[in-house]
Amino acid sequence: MITVIQFSNNTFHIYNDDVSYIIKILKNNHLGQLYFGKKIRHRDDFDHLLVEKGTSLAPCVFKGDLDFSLEVLKQEYPSYGTGDYRDPAYQVVADNGSSITDLVYKSHIIKNGKDAITGLPSTYGNNVETLEITLQDDVIGLKVLLRYHVFSDIAAIVRSTAFINISTKPLRIERAMSASLDLYDSNFEMITLDGAWARERHISTRKITSGIQSVASSRGASSAMHNPFIALKRPQTTETAGEAYGFTLIYSGNFLAQVEVDAYDVTRVLMGINPFEFNWTLLAGEKFDTPEAVLVYSDSGLNKMSQNFHNLFRNNLMRGKYKQKSRPILINNWEATYFDFNEESILKIAATAKAAGIELFVLDDGWFGKRDNDSTSLGDWSVYLEKLPNGIKGLSEKINAMGLDFGLWFEPEMVNEISELYATHPDYAIATPNRKSSYGRNQYVLDFSRTEVVDCIFNKMCEIIDTANIAYIKWDMNRNITEAFSHSLTAACQKEFFHRYILGVYSLYDRLIARFPEILFESCASGGARFDAGMLYYAPQAWASDNTDAVERLHIQYGTSMLYPIVSMGSHVAAVPNHQVDRVTSLKMRADVAYFGTFGYELDLNKISAAELEQVKEQITFFKKYQDVIQLGDFYRLSQGNFYCWLVVSADKSTAILGYYKILASPNPSIKKINLVGLNSATEYSCNNKNYYGDELMNVGMILETEFTGLTQSDNFEGKYTSGTDKGDFTSQIYVFEAI
Ligand code: GLA
Repeated sequence: MITVIQFSNNTFHIYNDDVSYIIKILKNNHLGQLYFGKKIRHRDDFDHLLVEKGTSLAPCVFKGDLDFSLEVLKQEYPSYGTGDYRDPAYQVVADNGSSITDLVYKSHIIKNGKDAITGLPSTYGNNVETLEITLQDDVIGLKVLLRYHVFSDIAAIVRSTAFINISTKPLRIERAMSASLDLYDSNFEMITLDGAWARERHISTRKITSGIQSVASSRGASSAMHNPFIALKRPQTTETAGEAYGFTLIYSGNFLAQVEVDAYDVTRVLMGINPFEFNWTLLAGEKFDTPEAVLVYSDSGLNKMSQNFHNLFRNNLMRGKYKQKSRPILINNWEATYFDFNEESILKIAATAKAAGIELFVLDDGWFGKRDNDSTSLGDWSVYLEKLPNGIKGLSEKINAMGLDFGLWFEPEMVNEISELYATHPDYAIATPNRKSSYGRNQYVLDFSRTEVVDCIFNKMCEIIDTANIAYIKWDMNRNITEAFSHSLTAACQKEFFHRYILGVYSLYDRLIARFPEILFESCASGGARFDAGMLYYAPQAWASDNTDAVERLHIQYGTSMLYPIVSMGSHVAAVPNHQVDRVTSLKMRADVAYFGTFGYELDLNKISAAELEQVKEQITFFKKYQDVIQLGDFYRLSQGNFYCWLVVSADKSTAILGYYKILASPNPSIKKINLVGLNSATEYSCNNKNYYGDELMNVGMILETEFTGLTQSDNFEGKYTSGTDKGDFTSQIYVFEAI
């Protein structure tokens, strides 16, 4: 694989074997965008790709040159106010109140490798090349760095921007997108991942049309309502064929992902920190970095787009001991006990879990302060000794002695009104002076934009973690920010709050990871309300949803896989009737869905029958055997709707595992057959005592278990006639294909 960034004839060509990205220095010294898409051959001159097309009324840069108008040109990092009336990539206000800028090309650097962005999550690797272009506005003294990174083996460009004040007066940034992209046409459908608590990341698809369409968050977290992701696909693109562009932000706070179709059908994509409720004062000499945006291209369907994200996140974003390792099978006590537990009941759950083959016990909410319900104790990270008389130390030692690792829940960013922390430091809670504060789950959000608040929580967490042998931490975050305000910020800087808050969250993660590098973090936010690429840099897995129902999880996990790898999706088998939707599904289906994630259990195994416990043991044995294939292989979505189907194929294509799920049964059904993908055509695979060649499985397809066709009693034969073993609603089938 090659990675190259070339500069000739005032044109940058960034490419690897899969993608090309071409930027041209225009005759006004601004940057024009020529192309992003499938790799094209390099040539010294791409001027023939430049479209200069004016209209008689469009504002033009040079007198009499009607064809050179910013209103019509495809641009790299556009501004507002000098002819382009589309939404701009940035806005910077000078001390005289003007936001007119003129960023012209000054210089560039091309180098191997890439730098981390201080204080923010960012991609890294050895197989990456960087282009940094410096633009400058000499009138207001603003320098802007546009950074581009291309990894040798991934069809993606990673971008970020930095603003530097080289004047002697303050500048105010009002908008700072990480990336802007002008595509030649608008024949696209936009995919977004939308939802709410317990129904996160459902896929929605709409045709884009003239004007602005966007998803965003202003909640202080990336949110369950919209994930920081959009894809633009051609109307005919499927999971396995056709063009698709995917965009995400490596960021966990307020974001904007916007698509604007202009009068000439150019589609402008903007991705960055949400400009709503944002600005940033840049004093003389200061620098502001945006988060990174990832721009992925696929010419072979949505699966390829997703696999590019999966590979980038697994290889060049996630860190730590579990980076490229399958994850421990855990049991979590939340749905088993909620707040009602003590040391004895926890040890009973753990002992049965250990006997079933589980590797890690996670103690969820309720172990600290006086926490018997959600109205108290957040912020007081000291052990609730009436529940756990031997402390976390004593409990974790007993759990370790059973042969299980021990994990613990924290919600570091929060405080309850009823708590010692709030009594001592009421000002640590986010609140606007002289205004009532809104409640959310009976708790307030701590002002993590203040270093002393982060220090305080860091010290409290360390006191607990230091006492015990903690292998895993579930970092929860259960409410969004209201009445945003910080005592540490001046009136002019209050709109820096949301970004400073998330920088505070990242700094606490950084400090904990530096001090406890062995701990596996799982992020969580009332389920999956902060499941984003920013979090994956610190916590390589995230609890996908509080909804543990197998049917609901099909929608959630299918949507999540649009950009997040299987190995990052927290997925557990829970009790029935399900606590979120009261649905009863089989233990088999619950596991068959949960296998395609981190896999674990969230119920009291002492409360199921002996036969079911045997089944759990078999499930764990199965999962351990195929865990590496599932969590580290290539994932493909094959179908959704009443019949969900997905597939993982090991990197060497020797093993493939197919999950097939039926939601509702239908009468007198058709034959069910699914065409596999990603196998070796010439390899012979065995599955359930039958042998198939890869080309058969991919072209003829795998004929699945026959659906039940009804009961009949007839004179023509004796007794009852039935056919089909796949009976009833909510069923699942797992097929393992192994190369012979
Ligand atoms: C959130 C999480 C749950 C659980 C509870 C505990 O809702 O998503 O998994 O940890 O908090 O209060």
